[in-house]
Amino acid sequence: MSEPSASSNDRLAHPYARPWWKDALVYQVYVRSFADSNGDGVGDLAGIRSRLGHIASLGVEAIWLNPCYPSPQHDHGYDVANYFDIHDEYGTLDDFDALLADARNLGIKILMDLVPSHCSIEHRWFIAALASDPNSPERARFYFRDGKGDAGNEPPNNWQSAFGGPAWTRLDADPTANNGKGGQWYLHTFAREQPDLDHTHTDVHQLFDEIFKFWFDRGVEGFRVDAVAGTGKHPDLPDQPPVGPEVGVLDITWMNEYTVFRPEGHDVWRRFRATIDNYESGHPGRELMMVAEAYAVRRPELVKAFTEPDQFHQMFSFDLMLTPWEKHSIEQAMLDPIAILAKTGVPPAWTLNNHDIQRIVTRLGRSDAHLPEIWTNNNLALSRADVDLALGERRARAMAALIFALPGSLYLYQGEELGLPEVFDIPADRREDPVFERTGGAEIGRDGCRVPMPWTNDASSSYGFSTPRADGTVGEPWLPQPTAWGERSVSEIDDIENSTLHMYQSLGEVRDEFAVSQPLEAQTIDIGPEVIAVRRGDLVVVVNPTDEPVQLDLDHRELAITQPVFASEPAEMHTTGVIPANSTIWFSS
Ligand code: NOJ
Ligand code: CA
Repeated sequence: MSEPSASSNDRLAHPYARPWWKDALVYQVYVRSFADSNGDGVGDLAGIRSRLGHIASLGVEAIWLNPCYPSPQHDHGYDVANYFDIHDEYGTLDDFDALLADARNLGIKILMDLVPSHCSIEHRWFIAALASDPNSPERARFYFRDGKGDAGNEPPNNWQSAFGGPAWTRLDADPTANNGKGGQWYLHTFAREQPDLDHTHTDVHQLFDEIFKFWFDRGVEGFRVDAVAGTGKHPDLPDQPPVGPEVGVLDITWMNEYTVFRPEGHDVWRRFRATIDNYESGHPGRELMMVAEAYAVRRPELVKAFTEPDQFHQMFSFDLMLTPWEKHSIEQAMLDPIAILAKTGVPPAWTLNNHDIQRIVTRLGRSDAHLPEIWTNNNLALSRADVDLALGERRARAMAALIFALPGSLYLYQGEELGLPEVFDIPADRREDPVFERTGGAEIGRDGCRVPMPWTNDASSSYGFSTPRADGTVGEPWLPQPTAWGERSVSEIDDIENSTLHMYQSLGEVRDEFAVSQPLEAQTIDIGPEVIAVRRGDLVVVVNPTDEPVQLDLDHRELAITQPVFASEPAEMHTTGVIPANSTIWFSS
């Protein structure tokens, strides 16, 4: 396979932010839900290939693929059975190579999703561990421990799973096993089908070295790294200090100081970085990267620690994703990451949506969306207030218009460009997220942001998601789509002037024209008490987060020599200096 050449992407020509990932526009593809090429109701790699034109129309520079490795899909690919192959429902390594080649022809790079914290119960190492003795080398790659209490009937400690319930599962309760201590327990920070790997073990070091090499050799340019917060652990696995009754089930794990944001984790990231740097130095012209997924909202010191030069190239900033729709919260969410950039030179990876969080159109449409006290660091904790979707979409557009202007890279999640809302109408027996089952249905989980994409208004092909089989039929989509889904499809909203799709396409263009050519820095400026105003070089972006239009002073010295060049509500854009309610305008000189 030939190495990607620098000239294959003309965006590499622009002079400011190199390497490419520092200000890239990246599109996240949830493989299972993007496009189904063979009518079985499950998205696949050939489906993505057939829809690359849509992704390219947004002006993106890279695609991040959610995990597409072989997996029993207990947590939709975040339970990896084999890190060196493609899940059979999604295709083959040949399909992967073909996707990568097609994407490269369009100037688009591929990022994979790396899952280091845990693998699958079907990974060969775990299968070998189950077949081996309690103190065997096979078990040492995981966290197997004897239970406490009579015949080991209690879990080794009080840790809780991030999906609800204990973080330990017992192999078997045979009281005669293990010299009368009963069957051992294994640790899983997430679902029981996701046993945690012990990253102090040299086999684990070697495994990840090989994974990097395998995918870099295929032409992958980097990795989004999963569940970074919980990968290191205190070696003694002590009990977590008790939490009060006010702490929700899904929050308990994240308060566990013995497994969250541990110093031991940083040893893992240093090793990963050394592996990447080493590969890169042997492959001139390649600019490889890894971006950390951890919810470090309003914790700039953590972002700084993770992006030390010997660790992650970048870290997601989920601050703006989770902020309430209110001036001071939005300003803080934006300024914390920008301050780190100013100190360290590491630009944030901004994002407003992903496959774990209720879609922004729904979140910002809630009647409590403007309340500063709803700000939470837990992406799974959902407000249940009423939703006004039209208002939510308008605010989401205004937020997108802000985030496209900021210094750093930007990750879009499939369907965001269509203004898709969260889907609630999924029957309990069709819900697949382990969060739903593990909390006994108390938390509905994340299926609602993973519903298969609508491409057309044709219900007989699952709204264009599935290409029919030879006999003309299509299988049920893996998650049901709501009946009005087709109205939000790519082909329908492509016909609507000023649709959210067109807004995203224009944002990609104005970002290239007016934002990425500016320095990698930004400041807030004061041009009035109601609005949020940000200056990035020659660009000034003004957000009106209120429900009333605001009159700007166009003679203000910050705006004096500028012209409006973009508005999130273009129909209402004019030059009188009125910025409509819940909207954003870009000014440039
Ligand atoms: C974060 C991923 O984004 C999420 O989907 C997954 O369930 C957990 N990590 C566990 O891997
Ligand atoms: Ca398929």
